[in-house]
Amino acid sequence: MVNFWIKIKPPILALAPMAGITDSAFRQLCRHYGADVVYTEMISADGLYYDSKKTLEFLKIDKKEHPVVAQLFGKHPEKFSKAARLCEQVGFDGIDINFGCPAKKVAGHGGGVTLMRDLPKCRQIIEAVLAGTKLPISVKLRSSINSLLSSRVRRGGRGISENKEEEINKKITALDFLKFMKDLPLAAAMIHGRSYEKPFEGEPDYEMIKKCVQYQKGINPQCAIIGNGGIKKPEDAKKMIELTGVDGVGLARGLYGRPWLFEQCHKYLKAGKYSEFAVADIKKAILLHGRLAFAAKKKHGLVELRKHLLWYVSGRPNAKALRAQLVRVESISDIKKILKNI
Ligand SMILES: Cc1cc2nc3c(=O)[nH]c(=O)nc-3n(C[C@H](O)[C@H](O)[C@H](O)COP(=O)(O)O)c2cc1C
Repeated sequence: MVNFWIKIKPPILALAPMAGITDSAFRQLCRHYGADVVYTEMISADGLYYDSKKTLEFLKIDKKEHPVVAQLFGKHPEKFSKAARLCEQVGFDGIDINFGCPAKKVAGHGGGVTLMRDLPKCRQIIEAVLAGTKLPISVKLRSSINSLLSSRVRRGGRGISENKEEEINKKITALDFLKFMKDLPLAAAMIHGRSYEKPFEGEPDYEMIKKCVQYQKGINPQCAIIGNGGIKKPEDAKKMIELTGVDGVGLARGLYGRPWLFEQCHKYLKAGKYSEFAVADIKKAILLHGRLAFAAKKKHGLVELRKHLLWYVSGRPNAKALRAQLVRVESISDIKKILKNI
């Protein structure tokens, strides 16, 4: 099986997985604007294991998306082999495992980032995926998580012994994770440089990402390390690469209303400059997004598109009036009519 990761010329620009955002239409759009690889929303390994109709819907991909990676989440190693096999059968190019999600519905049940507290379990999950597929396997990690859930220790309000306090403050890091998996053939690791405790805000932990790059290059130089967190403009991508030595970056919320950020990052990283997108080009992007969303899921695709439409006009002088119309779009012609006022 071809490892597509080693065919991409660095710097690799990846669309990071985002539940509710990185559906097929958005993945195609990001590929159009230069994403080198795109990730799905997280897909439940349990759901695939039990052939859940709703979960199987997430496996629909368009040929314009390749290379496309299916991201699996779950906590039962035995469910992952079949899930991985299904992803391979439907034509994904790679499989990613979610060890970074802090959302209650995932982490609250022992999945996502909380798995980092149990490295042997993480290993079993990776091994199960390896047993189910020959596709290249990647992992998505956070920079760190405290080894104990502080709320569990504090429960009862009787204070915390010094030993426990020490345990709470002990961290399991992305580097610990990579060291524990050193003999496994990982094709890539995307490291979100923020901890579980500070999930989405603040500067990424560049030092931790750098340590991971240095370590992983020493043991498995082919494994691509992708830095993620806080990339809102091309200068942020450059900073991440320069400070850490990563092979590429993962873009996430910076793409809200700006899928062309991929094109700008490529230009800036290559030639040191980029230009802002003109209104005419923004209109083209919105229309293309609309057409892709409609092609993928018909009218429902346009309902899901509405949040993106609001992001596209955010900051425009007449944004308020535009938003009032955009939240109601039901057809491509509705979108075209509104675009005349932008
Ligand atoms: C709405 C939303 C959904 C997300 N869903 C996922 C997911 O399904 N799997 C995952 O590994 N990370 C998920 N993430 C985390 C992102 O991939 C990324 O790591 C994070 O947003 C940090 O990057 P940023 O600062 O550039 O946004 C999600 C983030 C957001 C904002």
